[in-house]
Amino acid sequence: MEVKIAPSILSADFSCLGKAIGSMDEWGADMVHIDVMDGHFVPPITIGPIVVEALRPLTDKPFDVHLMVDNPMDHVDDFIAAGADSVTVHAEVLSDLPGAIRHIREKGVRASVSVNPETPLSAVEPVIRDVDMVLLMSVHPGYGGQAFIEPVLDKIQKLRRMMDELGLTTDIEVDGGIYPENVQSVIDAGATVIVAGSAVFGSDDPGKAIRLLRGH
Ligand code: DX5
Ligand code: ZN
Repeated sequence: MEVKIAPSILSADFSCLGKAIGSMDEWGADMVHIDVMDGHFVPPITIGPIVVEALRPLTDKPFDVHLMVDNPMDHVDDFIAAGADSVTVHAEVLSDLPGAIRHIREKGVRASVSVNPETPLSAVEPVIRDVDMVLLMSVHPGYGGQAFIEPVLDKIQKLRRMMDELGLTTDIEVDGGIYPENVQSVIDAGATVIVAGSAVFGSDDPGKAIRLLRGH
């Protein structure tokens, strides 16, 4: 299966965000990963729906919105209205995860559940048949540029095996610390969507970085 590359704009130059979004086609990105942080679930505050809405006309690439917030259900409708194509919520903060996933899908966009590195896969099991994607964090959420947490490779493999046993071909997105040097191990473990912030925006040639992340 061809892997999809989702550059995270968290590492872009925020004074030229529009330019970065406008370059996604030329660079060959598959989707745009947008990291939303609320200053509670994680310390930083980043991007709200108003920014997503402003960026939406600048590319046809799907917007992959990753909600690192304490109360995602207070905000999902606004992000969907602003142009999100997929919405990821964290299992750690939801008392009714199946209800959250159902709500997102009923709105007509892809629904995804994420877990932090230390959160067990049992947290996603109740919705494994219902989601379009599972996002496994491979760094502690909050910041770009951190090192990949190696034990997450086993977690990716375990999740892919669980999905295989259930006959599911659901996307597994892996987020954090991925570079051309270690991407192959992440893909071999079973990831189908690769998020990359520093590897893309830290490069002099983001298009080349994206090609390298695909393995060619
Ligand atoms: C971290 C974010 C990531 C981050 C990845 O909390 O969810 O999407 O931007 O950045 P890199 O690729 O630099 O680790
Ligand atoms: Zn992210």
